[in-house]
Amino acid sequence: MPGSNINLAVVGATGAVGNQMIGCLAERNFPLQSLKLLASARSAGRILRFKGDSVPVEELTENSFQGVHIAVFSAGAGTSKTFAPIAVKAGCVVVDNSSAWRMDPEVPLVVPEVNSHAIAGYKKKGIIANPNCSTIQLVVPISAIHKEVGVKRIVVSTYQAVSGTGKKAIDELLDQTRSIINFLDYKIKVYPHRIAFNCLPHIDVFLDNGYTKEEMKMVNETRKILEAPSIGVTATTVRVPVFFGHSESVNIETHEHITAEKVKTLLEGTPGVKLVDDPQKSIYPLATDAAGQDLILVGRIREDESIPNGINMWIVADNIRKGAATNAIQIAEVLEKEYL
Ligand code: A2P
Repeated sequence: MPGSNINLAVVGATGAVGNQMIGCLAERNFPLQSLKLLASARSAGRILRFKGDSVPVEELTENSFQGVHIAVFSAGAGTSKTFAPIAVKAGCVVVDNSSAWRMDPEVPLVVPEVNSHAIAGYKKKGIIANPNCSTIQLVVPISAIHKEVGVKRIVVSTYQAVSGTGKKAIDELLDQTRSIINFLDYKIKVYPHRIAFNCLPHIDVFLDNGYTKEEMKMVNETRKILEAPSIGVTATTVRVPVFFGHSESVNIETHEHITAEKVKTLLEGTPGVKLVDDPQKSIYPLATDAAGQDLILVGRIREDESIPNGINMWIVADNIRKGAATNAIQIAEVLEKEYL
């Protein structure tokens, strides 16, 4: 490809996020010299499409990264822990979508609209971490408000789509829904309870403090990305029977007063955000509108009347795109343009 210079590998290419990463590379015309698609031995030989070409999936091995400049990983934390250092040793920069490296002080955790400058820190370990999907869509609008009036505390409750768990969970919601509406028996395999027509206040494992790991990811990652260790963050994360698009009810307490109108003006000028806020006309962010595109939709913006300086809002984004694949490819774009 003329003018193209990057050899890029997608690890976990057959998964929900990996597949979208391939889609984003094509849509955004990423300057590729070559594209390598890696997955487990189960998928070796499968053919995936990229810009009209057929690309065979290869098994991920220790020798997969020779000559590769950037490897984007989305194959689970275990695979990233083992293979990211192998890729770095072979000369790659790794952009990792798993939780394996996010809280490592030597690994930048990046949402390009918020802390693109942190990418420079990749030189320490050769790895850049992509945050958790729920964190990415939270920090973009919050960062704009934080810069303006200082955020003191965030209370967030999530309504998370099953695609965040991967392909098997998408199938499970579909299968259970079909079975239940046809009065047939259904199987529970992926989640501890039925997800169809239900809400599960349980994402990832429970920790000793009573929170889930997903909830604590939101707490710790938000502070790291905003470079604000003293912001109070408390989260309740809930899986809901939605295929694509995470929704979040967010309450923030700020140091200085800010009006709802001022928040709307700020967010209208925030890259990556779309204000969707005309409740009288039933216009507010919806998962069905967020799915399939990259903007973070924010609406239901109003002052919290129970405290002097508080704002409520409703934030929705496509968890597979901006919450994972798009964010990772945006990081790869900055790497390509500014560092490689
Ligand atoms: P495979 O399809 O061969 O199992 P999802 O999160 O949608 O389930 O996708 C997970 C992705 O991670 C898939 O591409 C899967 O490949 C890949 N994967 C899982 N385990 C491994 C592994 N041990 N080595 C390489 N790829 C893996």
